[in-house]
Amino acid sequence: MSQSYQIPQTQQAARIHSYGEREVLTLEPAPIPTVNADDVLVKIHATSINPVDWKVRKGYLQNFLPHKLPLTLGWDLAGEIVALGDKVTGWKMGDAVYSRPDIARDGAYAEYIAVRASEIAHKPQTLNWQEAAAVPLVALTAWQVLYEFAKLQADERVLIHAGSGGVGTFAIQLAKLRGAYVYTTSSTRNVALLKSLGADEVIDYTQQDFSELRDLDVVFDTLGGDVEQKSWKTLKRGGRLVSIVSVPDAATAEQHGVTPLFCFVQPSAPQLNELAKLIDAGKIQIVMDSVYALKDIVQAQEKSEGGRAIGKIVVQVA
Ligand SMILES: NC(=O)c1ccc[n+]([C@@H]2O[C@H](COP(=O)([O-])OP(=O)(O)OC[C@H]3O[C@@H](n4cnc5c(N)ncnc54)[C@H](OP(=O)(O)O)[C@@H]3O)[C@@H](O)[C@H]2O)c1
Repeated sequence: MSQSYQIPQTQQAARIHSYGEREVLTLEPAPIPTVNADDVLVKIHATSINPVDWKVRKGYLQNFLPHKLPLTLGWDLAGEIVALGDKVTGWKMGDAVYSRPDIARDGAYAEYIAVRASEIAHKPQTLNWQEAAAVPLVALTAWQVLYEFAKLQADERVLIHAGSGGVGTFAIQLAKLRGAYVYTTSSTRNVALLKSLGADEVIDYTQQDFSELRDLDVVFDTLGGDVEQKSWKTLKRGGRLVSIVSVPDAATAEQHGVTPLFCFVQPSAPQLNELAKLIDAGKIQIVMDSVYALKDIVQAQEKSEGGRAIGKIVVQVA
């Protein structure tokens, strides 16, 4: 990329002007984002869908994340730096990066995004743009839940719910890299995939009830509701239940002698750097469900909302 990249006057971005169902998400001309002194402007090659995207669209997170509308959705990206803020050091035009940017700002269902330089990392070299865009949000979530919140130790026993989801496919692999014994839940069609990712025991929820497990050290709850309720008794006293869906009930946790934790993923360049090293060393596989074009963003979100994706739904931008 040349030092004198011509940034266009406007871009295409998939935005919402109000909260609601699929019709509020529209691909339309939008301003090129303002680049603050500590930002870089990234030309996006690919982004990916996460359930939080359509939860924000529907207004479910209005109290937790007070966004200003119109809002560009989507908080995963892989692309190239095309402009640098005045205070940015250590990066140059054309650098290939990936990121889970600040969810309080406009997202990455767009041709360009302004991201804090502190939230980007070099794209894993062995991945193409689509694969790289499948990584940041879910891999950071798995990392932060297992390594920071649960403080998972080698030889501990962990149950990861929904192993075939975007988060689950990374969580299985990160838990194995830590040396833990991994149980995961799945329907029949994904059992072989999850074994290939390293899961020690895959509990097919159409055949077997995971709540028969006992004395686990950690439960990683990606589903909430009944699944969370049935998870408490699988943990030993002193165990940890980490939810990424809702804040677990403290009184129930106390009855079971378990530590309840809730994680909401945060941007982290250092963790993305560590993940890139593991990926480039061939230690983490990327599981992709499907790839959509940006013009088909509504269908891509609907696929995610259906709840049956196997790994990540990626969106090709350019
Ligand atoms: N707090 C945070 O920071 C944070 C971060 C990331 C995600 N999340 C949340 O975590 C949840 C999971 O995210 P995700 O991206 O992994 O979702 P996802 O990719 O959409 O998950 C889809 C997968 O879930 C599996 N699944 C559904 N019901 C299941 C069940 N009862 N038992 C076992 N597997 C089941 C499906 O497999 P089958 O079709 O085989 O059932 C499918 O493969 C979402 O609610 C998301 O919003 C929160």
